[in-house]
Amino acid sequence: MQIIDSVPEMQSLAASLRSNDRLIGLVPTMGALHGGHIELMQAAKDQADIVVVTIFVNPTQFGPSEDFDAYPRGLEQDIRMCEEAGADIVFVPGVEELYPDGYSTFISEEKLSEGLCGISRPNHFRGVLTVVTKLFNIVHPDLAVFGQKDAQQAAVLKKMVADLHFGVRILICPTVREEDGLAMSSRNRSLHSTQRKDAAVIYQALQSAKTLYDSGNRNVDRILAEVTHTLSTSRRIRVIYVNFVDSETLEPLNELVEGRSLLAVAVWVDEVRLIDNIIL
Ligand code: PAJ
Repeated sequence: MQIIDSVPEMQSLAASLRSNDRLIGLVPTMGALHGGHIELMQAAKDQADIVVVTIFVNPTQFGPSEDFDAYPRGLEQDIRMCEEAGADIVFVPGVEELYPDGYSTFISEEKLSEGLCGISRPNHFRGVLTVVTKLFNIVHPDLAVFGQKDAQQAAVLKKMVADLHFGVRILICPTVREEDGLAMSSRNRSLHSTQRKDAAVIYQALQSAKTLYDSGNRNVDRILAEVTHTLSTSRRIRVIYVNFVDSETLEPLNELVEGRSLLAVAVWVDEVRLIDNIIL
């Protein structure tokens, strides 16, 4: 496995792999890797000849009062995990490499980015789209793999790829969960043990919606009330949003559409922001 930190080196290696007809699969991450990231690497491995994992805590997707400095980092362990997962190349650029002094070009999507996380994190998706565009331009992958855990991010990225005619196939992998149902997330590392226990309520809340749905209930307000109620059983949890939206367009839903009703949740567990979702 090769570890690369310079953009020109990554560009010329990717170009030579492409000229040898190797299919390149890209897995962008911010490190602090967990089982969810590993699943994406495996999916990339199944469908491409060469797996490139990027590890870059992207400053432009964090707001001024957000946790960029406190975001969990652990490069040595991350590199070991990439190697074990069978990655071929790990690209770990420094901040100066991607955003040199005077950097001033950004990509924004102006519809799907507006709701859900976009309300409380106004420039978040602009940062995500900018860094992913840069990674696409550096690596020119055939395939890029993302997780359904970040459902809005997945939808916004697919929209950008379609709108801007990127010739990259986007693959979205299911959410990988801990035994108690909590969605794996780098931010889970910031939870102490009682917070961690309470965080399991997020999945219980999503399951309470599914139980109602499976028993035939189709009343959006009733289901949302049940989810909010379940979340309120933990006094550490504060709701940022609980919404039903269309899983592709992210338009708010007043009536549920089978197989497309994305129930998306964002909460604070004390000072740690977590998101999760299910599709009904
Ligand atoms: P990060 O949070 O590190 O996540 C990297 C990728 O892993 C994303 O596609 C995310 O959706 C996926 N992922 C995270 N937790 C998952 C889980 N439990 N199950 C399945 N997939 C999971 O998302 C980002 O980084 C950044 O915004 C990035 C796209 C790298 C741009 O900076």
